Amino acid sequence: MTLRGRSPRRGDSLSKLGLVRDGAVLACDGKILAAGHRKQVERLPAAKRAEKFDVGGRVILPGFVDSHTHLIHAASRAEEYELKIQGASYEEIARKGGGILNSVKKLRAATREALKGRAAAALSEFAAHGTTTLEAKSGYGLDVASELKILRLHRELNEEQPLEIVSTFLGAHVVPAEFRGKPDGAERYLALLIEKLLPEIVIGDLAEYCDVFCDRGAFTLAQSKQLLTKAKEHGLAPRLHAEQLSRTGATQLAVELEAASCDHLEHVNDADIRGLARSDTVATLLPGCDFHLGLKGYAPARKLIEAGAIVGLATDYNPGTSPTMSMPMVLSLACTQLQLTPAEATTAATINAAYSLGRDKAVGSLEPGKQADLAVWDVEDYREIPYYFGMNLCWMTMKRGEIIWMKD
Ligand code: NIG
Ligand code: FE
Repeated sequence: MTLRGRSPRRGDSLSKLGLVRDGAVLACDGKILAAGHRKQVERLPAAKRAEKFDVGGRVILPGFVDSHTHLIHAASRAEEYELKIQGASYEEIARKGGGILNSVKKLRAATREALKGRAAAALSEFAAHGTTTLEAKSGYGLDVASELKILRLHRELNEEQPLEIVSTFLGAHVVPAEFRGKPDGAERYLALLIEKLLPEIVIGDLAEYCDVFCDRGAFTLAQSKQLLTKAKEHGLAPRLHAEQLSRTGATQLAVELEAASCDHLEHVNDADIRGLARSDTVATLLPGCDFHLGLKGYAPARKLIEAGAIVGLATDYNPGTSPTMSMPMVLSLACTQLQLTPAEATTAATINAAYSLGRDKAVGSLEPGKQADLAVWDVEDYREIPYYFGMNLCWMTMKRGEIIWMKD
């Protein structure tokens, strides 16, 4: 599956997969020279000198691009998982000091080494499930030192392991405990983000994007606009957690600010859908959250596609709402719960996700000049990737022409 052609993909073009039967990929110095019919590729002069690797009739896809993760955190929240099963809601747990604040407490107490070790193990799991590029958000530090610690770890991990990590600053995840219950607590925290953290991030070149959790119990629309506008002035492109628990108008804000991505979208209305459809903001859907939280109100994916929005898919890997590194599982959920076809889901998880990270010229499809980032699947038909669920059929993952994971 080459996914060759224009990006981003809307409507019917989500289903144009560029399938090649008996195909081959020719790569040199980490980049693709050709991807197409094996006989044609083999005829190229560079192919004569190439080392051949036979994948035995398996299916090759571009590596998955996971455009929404909260990679760095200290621990799971399995105890809250159990409370939720017994009937407590995500927001009730958060109001009692659990939720994101629970993860913040744990992260602040964790050493750099422990955080790095946990993230490195997670990155290996991402690679084992066919992901070759991922976005990572800060947001469990929520003070100057801890947020910078997370963003610096993004950079170190980017340099020390094969997956590419795109760094996002999510200082506005929630208002930290030390600012709560005081007059203007949220405003004072935002001032800290704007005056102290943003300049440090820019000087250190520590993030490309700025995200805000705009929702009930997190930040208001006005606060989100204030921070994202400042971040944009500093050169950080906006992303948003929008309409997850309630409708706040965050989607319209994302469109107005020309955000790279607007994520979650469970509670969008028709006007929000029209706004996204007319924009270049990617509507990133995260069905792992509703699945893990046991909620039934999945985002209106079909309406978004039919209206013409650029739909993307991501894991939202995080300890509170979506503890998974598996894009194949997200594809399974997208097919059965969002009614995407396997073709649409695959496009959303590769080229459209790459577009949301400003990397659609480098990754997300198998085309000459792009990075040789791909995954080989132990299936006969690409539709079997979401069809089989809760298991890993990835056989091999390659990043920039190097094998980074292989099934034993
Ligand atoms: O994307 N919604 C906000 N952030 C995360 C959840 C974070 C957490 O619960 O730790 C999300 O769902
Ligand atoms: Fe998230």
